[in-house]
Amino acid sequence: MKQVGDCFLVGALYLAVSTACASSVELTIQAAGPGKPISPDLVGVFFEDLNYAADGGLYAELVQNRSFEYSAVEQSHWGPFFSWDLRKLGGGDGSLGLANVRPIHPNNPHYALLTVARPGDGVGIANGGFDGIPLQAGATYEASFWAYQPFMNAKWGPNNSIEGRPMPVTLRLEGRDGQMLAEAEVEVVGRAWKRYSVRLTPSETEKQAQLVLLARDRGGLALDMVSLFPQDTFMGRPNGLRKDLAQAIADIKPKFVRFPGGCLVHGGGIHHYYDWKDTIGPVEQRVGQRNLWGYHQTMGLGYFEYFQFCEDIGAMPLPVVAAGVCCQHGGDTPGQGQEGLPMEEMPAYVQDVLDLIEWVNGPATSEWGAKRAAAGHPEPFGLKYIGVGNEDAITPVFKERFRMIHEVIRKEHPEITVIGTVGPFAGGQDYDNGWAFARELELQMVDEHYYVSPGWFWDHRERYDAYDRKDSKVYVGEYAAHDRGRRNTLRSALAEAAGLTSFERNGDVVRFASYAPLLARRGHTQWTPDMIYFDSTNVYLTANYFVQQLFGQNSGDRFLEMELDASDDMRLAASSVLDSSTGDRIVKIVNGADESVEINIRLLGFVAGAPRKATKTVLTGPDADAVNEDGKPLVVKPEHSTETIKPVFTYTVPANSLTVIRITR
Ligand code: AHR
Repeated sequence: MKQVGDCFLVGALYLAVSTACASSVELTIQAAGPGKPISPDLVGVFFEDLNYAADGGLYAELVQNRSFEYSAVEQSHWGPFFSWDLRKLGGGDGSLGLANVRPIHPNNPHYALLTVARPGDGVGIANGGFDGIPLQAGATYEASFWAYQPFMNAKWGPNNSIEGRPMPVTLRLEGRDGQMLAEAEVEVVGRAWKRYSVRLTPSETEKQAQLVLLARDRGGLALDMVSLFPQDTFMGRPNGLRKDLAQAIADIKPKFVRFPGGCLVHGGGIHHYYDWKDTIGPVEQRVGQRNLWGYHQTMGLGYFEYFQFCEDIGAMPLPVVAAGVCCQHGGDTPGQGQEGLPMEEMPAYVQDVLDLIEWVNGPATSEWGAKRAAAGHPEPFGLKYIGVGNEDAITPVFKERFRMIHEVIRKEHPEITVIGTVGPFAGGQDYDNGWAFARELELQMVDEHYYVSPGWFWDHRERYDAYDRKDSKVYVGEYAAHDRGRRNTLRSALAEAAGLTSFERNGDVVRFASYAPLLARRGHTQWTPDMIYFDSTNVYLTANYFVQQLFGQNSGDRFLEMELDASDDMRLAASSVLDSSTGDRIVKIVNGADESVEINIRLLGFVAGAPRKATKTVLTGPDADAVNEDGKPLVVKPEHSTETIKPVFTYTVPANSLTVIRITR
């Protein structure tokens, strides 16, 4: 690359006049093609249940701690009744206890025992959800719970008047001032666990509602899985996803969804890895556990919901399983670091991975395919890739276990690409050892991660130009530019955009890329920056989100050779791709400097003088420090216009901007 234009020749003087000075740069694109084949699936998303991304986030359940499984192991001030209150109304009296002798299922060991000594106007429990339950006036919600009548006969004695009498129960939605917004009655009958449900339609919109369950007679109730679900989930799925968040993800047009992480995959200790089998089947039978990030995972958003979401948004599933080792930063024995599953447990673990593949791809007649069919999806979901390991230290313990898993998948499922791991950084010991191991095993793809400064992305724009085309392909599985204060600045977003132009240019090597992390609930965030923030009722889109969206919506399958004639020290990057399905040529230009730049663009191969229609989208903001603040008008957002483009034209690229020019056929 060489710098064109006079501005850079004036040294110190340049700084003084820089905002008024437009450098002239040449961008020449072989627009007629054919171009080099690149990954059509470059931009995807990384989902990890971190920052309350699942429970209290994408999973639409509105009750927190619905199955009384919260514990002090998760947070020191938590217990089985966290987020619950005992209610005694109108002279009612009773008590709340915890039981585990006769659970709905052994996987869900605890439940509440409500004893009503004097019913008054009702004795029961109330739940305020995650920071209050948000309700929409006129919308329908399903309130449900599992219950049976304990203490019949035994507690109240023979011949007592309540023996065999059903327990009337009121389910009520209450506003923050206690006003009743909706109410329905059910009767709990008998000593067997049974699910009861009602539909409630609140009369008012309320951000901080409570779900209240009241027993209205003397006696008792065993209660579990007390739930409130909006009927209007994403694509109307039962046990589904929060619509606004799911839609924001879908709007990126991600080509794949990675799940369940991240560090969550191998968990905080070797026997705390994410076990996919714990996350399927009826929700009351799933195994909740302490989330590595210090809260409770219900697994309500489990493997089935994940695969269904992928299908609903047209994205490929990209699950990641542990490599039989835990994180080097947290073993079962604190401070011991990486530990491997005992070798005698490895065959069963490898079988679990094979079972996962059968559950996804097997026919409904197979053992695990039948479980998928029973959940409502007889057709295979379709799995082509599986990640094994996450940022693991490349030790003999790791290698031995990874090798076992890889060999079996390669033998039994040659149609599936195993993605290996090359450590947590863009270089260094685990990166080098991981790559050496990948070459030894002839892995088809490896997973690179880097959280680095914005400057790093600009300085490493040519990282993949130097990669050996015969080596494993690359999945940039986690990346983000971390600016000062780890804020979601426009500067960070443009650095990621510059990275993405180089991924596109090297799309024969870099097959997939996913920004991380994806979601963060305000007030419950363990990691910043994230791509999408949210609270109970709002979704806050960052500058980084819009970069992902623009690349996701404007992907191509061929890279059109191009030359950007600009000086190395200019923060300027570009890429040009062809979308063969439409014939559209898509040019992306990133300017990370505080000055605008004039670019002369030549579309070689286009008939001289013949104008073409184009849409131009510009993502910019007042300055590089600009951040979209919650609840305020977006300062960084894409602006669209329609243009007529000639084969040779001049474009002034705004300071601190990403421009996408989509030229239609
Ligand atoms: O994305 C957050 C965390 O960063 C992931 O869990 C882990 O893989 C990485 O270190």
